[in-house]
Amino acid sequence: MTTTVIQRKLNEEYCRNANSIKAMVDSGLTHIPSDFILPQNMQPRFTKSDKSRDVPTIDLSLVNDESERPRIATAVTEAAKEWGVFKVVGHGISATLRKKLIQVIREFFDLPLSDKLQFLGPSGDTSTPRYGRTRRGKTGHQSWRDQFHHRTPPLDFEELQSWPEKPETYRDTILEWTKEIQKVTDTVFSLLADAYDLQPRRLQNLMGTAESGMEATMLAAYYPPCPQPDVASGIVAHTDPVGMVVNFEDVPGLEVQKDGTWILVAPDPESLIILTGDAMEIITNGRCKSCEHRVLLKEKQDRVSALVLMKPSLEAKLCVAPEFITSGPPSRFMGMNMTYREYLQTFRRKCSDATVDS
Ligand SMILES: [Fe+2]
Repeated sequence: MTTTVIQRKLNEEYCRNANSIKAMVDSGLTHIPSDFILPQNMQPRFTKSDKSRDVPTIDLSLVNDESERPRIATAVTEAAKEWGVFKVVGHGISATLRKKLIQVIREFFDLPLSDKLQFLGPSGDTSTPRYGRTRRGKTGHQSWRDQFHHRTPPLDFEELQSWPEKPETYRDTILEWTKEIQKVTDTVFSLLADAYDLQPRRLQNLMGTAESGMEATMLAAYYPPCPQPDVASGIVAHTDPVGMVVNFEDVPGLEVQKDGTWILVAPDPESLIILTGDAMEIITNGRCKSCEHRVLLKEKQDRVSALVLMKPSLEAKLCVAPEFITSGPPSRFMGMNMTYREYLQTFRRKCSDATVDS
């Protein structure tokens, strides 16, 4: 068969299994459809990377010790400023729960496609649980990933009942996980507030309104093995529009951009990976960096990751908080004054690589 015929057959297979990359891979691909092949300047084989470096790691275990807390708060603010990403250990989440989480996510994606397709819907809609693919990137290319996402508590009974019944441990495990992650993000926000000399919940309050506070979304991501990992991406390079993201993964693959080089976040069975997003960058007038990131693929190995996205309320005003306005030349964030909803509409138009952004 000629290359053109092979590619046409691949693209037909892709259309048949458009809602699941896993289903496409399970059908036995040796090459990938053209929609997934990135331009050369975005392909992992042509972009500069450094696997000898790692992002900062911060131990939270002594966060309630008054003599240690200022040092930890400084470490968090420096990492947020320099990197926009850091790992945390000493977070108090048990190895048992971490293992259960990865297992239940794997079990979910291993369900028959028909079970997952009952949750099919657009990726931006989080009012009910949604299964499907990531939106096309701003270059029009597809990311090699299936995903499932929904809001996290507090939720009314009806919304909780809309969570999957299979695997049967899904609801309890995700409830426990998101409760623990809420505690960790509260700690990180309060450490940042300490270092910036703000009230403990000031940052969360800036991302809420009188009517509604910050929201959170649980996003489970599945990256199937990819026959051509050097030319595609699990998720195309992007920043997240949200306030903060907590990532836990079983196989390394997340890369972050630092000084023009891609840095692989090193494998670690204990660490949570925390990224600060656009909303925090804007509010803090650049004191927190919005971390650009992407996901590498493997030819023979799949990967799952569990993301909790801490998001501003849709009606919250996204602008530099008065506490971060300085007397120097105005920064690029100073003209910003729109609701988070309006920002998402702009962001989606300009850069639709966002994972889940509403
Ligand atoms: Fe992201």
